[in-house]
Formats: sequence, structure tokens, C-alpha cells
Amino acid sequence: PSNHSQTEGLLGLERGNCRAKGGSTGFKVAILGAAGGIGQPLAMLMKMNPLVSVLHLYDVVNTPGVTADISHMDTGAVVRGFLGQQQLEEALIGMDLVIIPAGVPRKPGMTRDDLFNINAGIVMTLCEGIAKCCPKAIVNLISNPVNSTVPIAAEVFKKAGTFDPKRLLGVTMLDVVRANTFVAEVLGLEPREVDVPVVGGHAGVTILPLLSQVKPPCSFTQKEIDYLTDRIQNGGTQVVEAKAGAGSATLSMAYAAVKFADACLRGLRGDAGIVECAYVASHVTELPFFASKVRLGRSGVEEIQPLGPLNEYERVGLEKAKKELAGSIQKGISFFNK
Ligand code: NAD
Ligand code: LMR
Repeated sequence: PSNHSQTEGLLGLERGNCRAKGGSTGFKVAILGAAGGIGQPLAMLMKMNPLVSVLHLYDVVNTPGVTADISHMDTGAVVRGFLGQQQLEEALIGMDLVIIPAGVPRKPGMTRDDLFNINAGIVMTLCEGIAKCCPKAIVNLISNPVNSTVPIAAEVFKKAGTFDPKRLLGVTMLDVVRANTFVAEVLGLEPREVDVPVVGGHAGVTILPLLSQVKPPCSFTQKEIDYLTDRIQNGGTQVVEAKAGAGSATLSMAYAAVKFADACLRGLRGDAGIVECAYVASHVTELPFFASKVRLGRSGVEEIQPLGPLNEYERVGLEKAKKELAGSIQKGISFFNK
């Protein structure tokens, strides 16, 4: 692996021994797909997170350069780079949290499900490594189609005998980040003051914003509800079209991924009252996976919160979301068991 600095090689570890090994406090975090459009800004933002003591950057290309670059930031985390499949296991050993943005992004005209054929195999291989090298790590899965890749990851872990539903989380935070932004615009509020639960999954109609549960409490006209629901469900497509073939959301996604990873780490540290939306193994509906508010703690997902009261519009949306989700979940499970 490429080390975080040249100091170790040139001067030995006498003085810097503890730091170069990553110190004793803080969490060890790996990013798989760290050289990509999401991976690079995500790596930068995680290097800035004081809860992180060791940051492992793994990809099949370009990690030496990204690692050298990020390692010069004067923040605490020790950064190490890992390149190619033969270094995957080394990248994963000892990790507390593994964030996965590896895989291909959409181009205009594609659905997230069009990414399935390539990304399913990538996620499967990476999760086999996790099962072997850090089976107790919390996994934040970003690779699309999230509605199917999370069930694939669960199957991999089940087969390896390491599946813990509390530790596998599909990242739907970008939907919440978008919803907060768009709702704040309509209400004329500061986005940071707004909290919109978004449940279901992470694609089209499976993205279900619960506008009746927005905090601070507020009301919307039907026109506003139609506008906001459409905007939130199609936020990803808006970015894909604007990027015109150069990929999908990367910067807002890195921001959302760090916001979510930080919540997971604060939970691991034992902070109370950490609640975020995530796509997890769930009994909130009859489906085996569903995104809803979850409480994060020392063991990962410590409580899956009920959906709460839905209005008629949301109940109709929920039925549509469940129908599509059921197919996406089955597709993931079948891929693994084929
Ligand atoms: P990108 O192409 O810029 O980067 C992907 C990275 O993954 C590349 O560096 C590539 O080398 C790496 N990679 C490919 N195969 C790999 C493997 N086997 N092991 C490790 N790394 C591998 O794409 P991006 O824009 O960063 O998007 C990555 C994924 O995230 C896409 O599937 C995209 O759809 C998804 N995404 C999800 C959300 C979400 O809200 N969950 C948001 C945005 C994007
Ligand atoms: C997003 O919501 O931005 C991501 O899922 C990427 C995409 O393909 O839209």
C-alpha cells in the first residue's frame, strides 16, 4: 500500500510511530471506489473528520495519486492507499466503517437499474472481502441501484455467515439532503433548519418524501406537494442530464455520504439520539428492505422507527414505491442465487 507520507520510509518510525500507525483513538474507515467522482471528494471530507484516525483509500485505478494528494492535508487521519484487487483485503482489515461508492454512474436516458449488470458484480466482490476481513464493520453502500445492491450485499454476508442487519445500510441521505434543500426553498427557510423524512428506496417513485412530517411543522398546497415530490424523486436525473454524459451527482453525494458516515461514527462512539434515514433490512413494511428513519448506536442500526401517520397522497405513493421496490429487491436476491 502507498503510505500516507514519505517520512516513514526516509526517517523510520522512531518519533512518529504512534501517529503513523494511526494513533489509538478514532475510527478506521475504508472507502472502496475512492478514486472516483464521489470517492475523491468523499475521501477529502473524511480526512477532515476528527472522528477518523485511519483512512484507507481503495480503488482499481489511481489511488496512489489520490492518496498522496489527500495525505498532505494537515488533519489527524492517517491515509493509506490500496490499488487493485490484490490489495483489497489489506485495505479492509481492521476497519470500523466501510463506505462503498464503487461502480459505474448513469448517463442521460438510463435508469439506475441499467447499472445493475456491472455494479452487482462489483458490489458482490467487495462485500466478499468485507465478510472475510472486517465482518463487524458498518457498511455504507452507495453504489447504484441501491434498491438491489443492498439485498445483494445481504446475500453475500448471509452466505459467509456474517450478516448482521444492523450493520448494512444503503445510503439514501442524498434524497434527504435534496428534500431539505427544495423544501427550504419553498418555505423560505434556512435548509439546515429543515428536516424532511424520505422513505422507501433510492430510485424514482420508490423515493417517498413524507411532506406531512416536515420539521418545523408546516403545510403545503397540493401544487407545492406535486412540485416537491417530483423534484425530489427526479433530483438525480436532473444532475445526470445537466452533466450530459459526464456522470451523475458526485459533490452533493460526497457531502451526503459524509453527513451519513459521520452520523454512523457518532453512533458507534455512543452518542445518543442519532436518527437518519437509511435503506436497511426492515419490518416496517412487508418488504425485506425499506428506507426509513433509523436510530444509530454502538452496534449500528439500533432501532428502525415506524413510518408514522401518512396522508392519503403518501399512502398512494407508498403502494407505488412498494410495488417497484419488491421487484428490485427480488432482482438483487436472484442475482446472487442464480
Ligand atoms: P465514477 O465512475 O466517477 O467512480 C467510480 C469508481 O469506482 C471509479 O474510480 C472506479 O475505478 C471504481 N471502481 C470500479 N470498479 C471497482 C471495483 N471493482 N473495486 C473498486 N473500485 C471500483 O462514479 P461515481 O460518480 O463516483 O458513482 C459511483 C456510484 O455511486 C455509481 O454507481 C452511482 O450511480 C452511485 N451513486 C449513488 C448515489 C446514492 O445516492 N446512493 C448518488 C450518486 C451516485
Ligand atoms: C442520485 O440520486 O444522484 C444518484 O442515485 C445518481 C443517479 O444516477 O441519479
